Amino acid sequence: MPRKILVTSALPYANGAIHLGHLVEYIQTDIWVRFQKMSGNECWYVCADDTHGTPIMLRAEKEGITPEQLIARVHGEHYRDFSGFLVGFDNYYSTHSEETRFYANDIYRKLKAAKLIETRTIEQYFDPVKQLFLPDRFIKGECPKCHAKDQYGDNCEVCGAAYAPTDLIEPYSAVSGAKPELRSSEHYFFKLSDPRCEAFLRQYTSRENGVLQNEAANKMQEWLGAPGENKLTDWDISRDAPYFGFEIPDAPGKYFYVWLDAPIGYMGSFKNLCARNGLDFDEYFRPDSPTELYHFIGKDILYFHALFWPAELQHAGYRTPTKIFAHGFLTVDGAKMSKSRGTFITAQSYLDTGLNPEWLRYYYAAKLSATMEDIDLNLEDFVARVNSDLVGKYVNIASRSAGFIAKRFNGQLAPADEKLPAIKAIQEAAGRIAELYEAREFAKAMREIMLLTDAANQYVDSVKPWELAKQEGKEVELHAACSNALNLFRLLTVLLKPVLPVVAGKVEKFLNIAPLEWTDSQSLLAAGHAIDAYEHLMTRVDPKLIEKLIAANKESLAPAPEAQSQQRHAEHQQKEIRSEAADGDLCTIDDFMKVDLRIARIANAEHVEGADKLVRLTLDLGEERTRNVFAGIKAAYDPAQLVGRLTVMVANLAPRKMKFGLSEGMVLAASDTEGKTPGIYLLAPDSGARPGMRVK
Ligand code: MSP
Ligand code: ZN
Repeated sequence: MPRKILVTSALPYANGAIHLGHLVEYIQTDIWVRFQKMSGNECWYVCADDTHGTPIMLRAEKEGITPEQLIARVHGEHYRDFSGFLVGFDNYYSTHSEETRFYANDIYRKLKAAKLIETRTIEQYFDPVKQLFLPDRFIKGECPKCHAKDQYGDNCEVCGAAYAPTDLIEPYSAVSGAKPELRSSEHYFFKLSDPRCEAFLRQYTSRENGVLQNEAANKMQEWLGAPGENKLTDWDISRDAPYFGFEIPDAPGKYFYVWLDAPIGYMGSFKNLCARNGLDFDEYFRPDSPTELYHFIGKDILYFHALFWPAELQHAGYRTPTKIFAHGFLTVDGAKMSKSRGTFITAQSYLDTGLNPEWLRYYYAAKLSATMEDIDLNLEDFVARVNSDLVGKYVNIASRSAGFIAKRFNGQLAPADEKLPAIKAIQEAAGRIAELYEAREFAKAMREIMLLTDAANQYVDSVKPWELAKQEGKEVELHAACSNALNLFRLLTVLLKPVLPVVAGKVEKFLNIAPLEWTDSQSLLAAGHAIDAYEHLMTRVDPKLIEKLIAANKESLAPAPEAQSQQRHAEHQQKEIRSEAADGDLCTIDDFMKVDLRIARIANAEHVEGADKLVRLTLDLGEERTRNVFAGIKAAYDPAQLVGRLTVMVANLAPRKMKFGLSEGMVLAASDTEGKTPGIYLLAPDSGARPGMRVK
């Protein structure tokens, strides 16, 4: 019996371009869906743009268009980008749809009937100029903890503190610059703290229930608190007008918060597909549904998908997700994607530069696992891996054998040797590889497939068709060798098809065969089968294209010529530099402010046994806890001399485990590497400075 499966990826916000980070998710999901479809399951893949909320409303206003116009344009752009990367949605819809509105109202009403909706008056910052309530992200001010300026209303990017917008010192509206006023207003809450929700979520998110990855289940238990300690708080699901979204049915001027209708957009998109394909929506969403529902998401939105969403569905009388698959975040060359480094790469720029989408699909597959670990796109490794695995190993098998079949044997194949170890190995591995796909262990699957590809190449190397072709009377051997090679190639194509759908399509065409399915991994081409002319399958990655790609994504620091003259005013300059990203060797004021430099008092200093350069420093930052730092200053300082001195330390350096213990920061010193005796000069502040003071 084929399984019936509904799959979703998170709905991207309709106010930004799709980038390579997003694509980790959509490519991962697409590979899984293609695998399911190839395996004969009925599998539907739906997604949509997430179109509501204040940011989208303000963005449209800034562009001088309506929100409807903005989301229509972005929908086109997103759809184009996803298609470009061969992400094969069965429906790509919008949350701004009648279907989504219907289910949002429906779920709201059912939750209300279940006494899980409550109204409460809350105080919130209001922008008196723009006349709107401000989301936390649109309020800025001074961090109450470290006093960094211009921090967001929910957390500080300098010291990492989390707080409420009302804690900010000298708050201002990021929209108008005005000083926000506290105003009260009635809000609607979903009572997540209700014992029914708690009981359900404890069971639903438990490790034993298996809906979540272990890591995610553990996190949920943390969020839920120890048994008896319900840590869940009610969820504010309404926003006041003006807001771009759905008005709450019985509450004029109140709108559903964007995160309320966003997951309901999965239902809306599927309902829309059902209407077109004659599918039965209820079969998939009724509580006792025999179908499977899977959500692929990033680890940042786990809270919404593992708590709010299942609790809503459960108490509104719908089925809950079978499993939630959370993945990690993309880094490029080991660091967060960065506009100044040119590694914040948009989907469009990748395609426009002429890079092949299947290169990225393969690279991601080769890196993806079922965990929530981040994955790194190392650009050098990307070039090497694609060139070696896909072009050097896989495509090479066909390009070395197909030509002889066409030229020498009228395009017809000889019988394949079903006992050939390389062929048997693939047929035996297919089941194992299917399990790896099913379990989203794509990296392991790719590794297995490449081992099989190596074995296929060893076979071709051992029979050497290019030499047989030059020898007389070796027709039979040549025919057999090339036919075996093409059969090997066909089998490997079955295994790679979820990752490389376009290449697989070209292979099906030149091999003159029906679309490959997973079960084809158990069969061989019949003797006498006629193939078409070999079609070029894939080129190597030219590293120059990568340079071009980075250049295309680099936000330049160079100001526009007309801006240059104005910029001479020092105060303006300050502002400009703040908002622009730095290039190359330059660092923006924002970059610099990330380094938390503090005055530290050396409370203690001692030799480190077995280390010839290090001194162990105990640093007092005016906090309760002192910091342990290993400093390479032994050549210049006697520890006894150091005790009691003030110096400067980097207080937010990631702690590093060293042979002698954990080092929790770094002290600053000037050094002279040219002189014969090592010159090391520890920095010291002028008198009056106290431990803990910020240096900037
Ligand atoms: N609109 C919400 C999702 C609503 S789902 C009912 C949202 N949108 S998003 O555009 O910010 O992100 C869409 C998906 O892409 C999320 O699952 C997110 O985790 C993922 N990614 C966005 N940036 C990413 C990386 N840099 N790396 C990996 N995935 C990332 O969240
Ligand atoms: Zn701070």
